[in-house]
Formats: sequence, C-alpha cells, structure tokens
Amino acid sequence: KIPVWLDCDPGHDDAVAILMALQLPQIDLRGISAVYGNAALHNTSRNAARCLIAFGSPEQAKSIPVYAGAEKPLIKLVRHDDEIHGEDGLGGVEGLPAADDPAVVAKLDETKGKPAVLAIADAARSLPDGERLTLVATGSMTNAALFVSMFPDLVRDKISQVVIMGGAEGRGNRSPVAEFNILLDPHAASILFDAEVPVVMAPLNVTHTALFRTHDHHKLLVPPSALPSLPETTPDATANPAKAHTPLRHTMSTLLTFFASTYSAVFNFQDGPPVHDALCIAYLARPEIFQGKRYRVDVELQGEHTTGTTVVDLWEYKKDELTEFKKDPDSRASWGRLGKNVFVLEELD
Ligand code: BDR
Ligand code: CA
Repeated sequence: KIPVWLDCDPGHDDAVAILMALQLPQIDLRGISAVYGNAALHNTSRNAARCLIAFGSPEQAKSIPVYAGAEKPLIKLVRHDDEIHGEDGLGGVEGLPAADDPAVVAKLDETKGKPAVLAIADAARSLPDGERLTLVATGSMTNAALFVSMFPDLVRDKISQVVIMGGAEGRGNRSPVAEFNILLDPHAASILFDAEVPVVMAPLNVTHTALFRTHDHHKLLVPPSALPSLPETTPDATANPAKAHTPLRHTMSTLLTFFASTYSAVFNFQDGPPVHDALCIAYLARPEIFQGKRYRVDVELQGEHTTGTTVVDLWEYKKDELTEFKKDPDSRASWGRLGKNVFVLEELD
C-alpha cells in the first residue's frame, strides 16, 4: 500500500478523490489537509471531515486526521469558486453529515492549533526507514509550497513524490490560459516545481478527458444486479438521485448532478463533469493506465494577461538550463530544483 497524504479543497471532485483514497486497496491514506480554494478554508476543512466521516470506515474516520492549512495564498488575494462548487464548496450534495454535526466539529477539534504542514512533516517522519510518503495536492499549492520550503531535508528523504492536479498545456479554465489551482497561488506552484522532489502533474487538458458521463451516472441509480444488462450508453440524460439504492450512491448521485449542472452552465460541458482531482488517486493506484513525459514547467508569475499559466516546455527550448537534469536525467536530484523537471501526464485514450 502507498502511504498518501491528501491536501485538498473539497470541492465536488476533491470529494471523489477522498472517496477513492479511502476505498482503493492500493492507497493507505495517512491524513487529509485542507486549503482555501473552491470555498473558504472553514468550509473546505469541514467538507474534508464530512467526506471522511461519510466515505470512510468507522476505523478510518477515527484514525485519519483532518487538518486546516492555509487560508490564503502566499502573495495574491484570496478567491473562491462558488459558481462551480456552490457557496460552501459542496453545493447540492446530500447525505453528508452537516458542517456543524458534532462528529465533524469533534474531528476538527482534535487537530486545532497545529498547522497542517507540521502534521504532514510528522506523518512523513513517522514512516519506517525506506518508506516515503506521497503528497497529493488537489487544491491550490499553498500548503505544498510551505511544506517543501520548511522541510527540505525531509522532502528529500521521506517524500516519494508530489502528485498534483493543476496547470494546463493550452487553455485554462479560470482565465483563458490559467488553470484554477495554479491561478490561485502561482508563486506557490513555482516554489513546488523548484523543490527537490519528483512532481507529477495532471493538467487540465488531461482531466478534461476524465468525464463522469451520464451513462456512468445512470449506473449509480440501478441495483448492482441490473448492471450487466445495462446498455453502455443510456438515453436517460437526467439522472434522478431519488432513485439511488444506497446512501453512498445517493450522495454521489447528488454530487454529480450538481457538478454536471454547473459545468454545463459555465463551461458548456454536455456529457458530464470532469472529475479532475480523482485522477491523482487513479494515477497512484493504476499508474499503468497513464502515460506522461518529463518537461520543464515554469509558472507565469507576472504576465499582464497570463498570470498563473503553466508554461510546459514541450519542445525543450530551455533544456540547456536544466543543469541537474543534464548531469543525470534519471537521478532523483534531477527532478525539480533548477531543472523544474515535472512529469506531465498525457491525455487518456
Ligand atoms: C481544479 O479546480 C477546482 O475547481 C477543482 O476542484 C480542481 O482541483 C480544476 O481546475
Ligand atoms: Ca480541487
């Protein structure tokens, strides 16, 4: 099992990532931290606890800690995305404990006062010799940047890789060219890409190929016994959450219904919403279904129209500047630091 720490801003697709991290047998989820992003930190941290309690086993809900991290970017002003995720970050989602449920409040009380980055450091340190923690970041990169800045030795010795959802090769979503997670805190993303740790990036052009389609949604609404007879595509475009058969299916159906409707209204996605963040967990559990290549990736920090853009050096114009990389392309030191050497995932088939 891969020891994983998930730093997120739930968020509908972050919630799907939490569900997968809790349930996939390849993943050993050691902790969750929240960052501002899709909603304010007080919402995203409660949402993380709500998802853990709803999606995890009683044992997981008890033993996996949830920490609140940064509530704003390093330099830029904070912003959120209620247009896509609703005011509290999980608009329309039914069946989760309420934000003020005593179990949610108690879960966050356990970790109150300790910064998330210290908790990530402790989780990494606590692993036996030879084992490393994988950090997954599916919100802004603020927590990840603070962590790699504060604990460079630990990052070198006890972090296996940082897998992020963020950036794009080409068009953006919250600016014509910038993807939301990087746009929120470009300076943090730049710090992360320069750290001495392998970074894997699931960019927007790839996550836009991972849609939760209407016919997948339909499968949530029929009893498992009926699944084999269900046609691959169904004409039923409007899933009715009331028909779902188990509490988890009901919750996921309401989540996807809301997410599909905002993605349709804002970005004109007609086939279903992209479950962006879930790809990071899918990559860890099933790396063989992904392909990618290592590139230099710079983050535009002060463009007049392009701040937050990830500039992927597809044609290796800047290869000469990859000092570490040139020495030994495959050594761990050649990832990150000066090289800005990021493993960028490619579109799924
Ligand atoms: C990213 O931004 C957020 O809206 C999603 O949760 C995802 O992490 C997609 O650009
Ligand atoms: Ca997210």
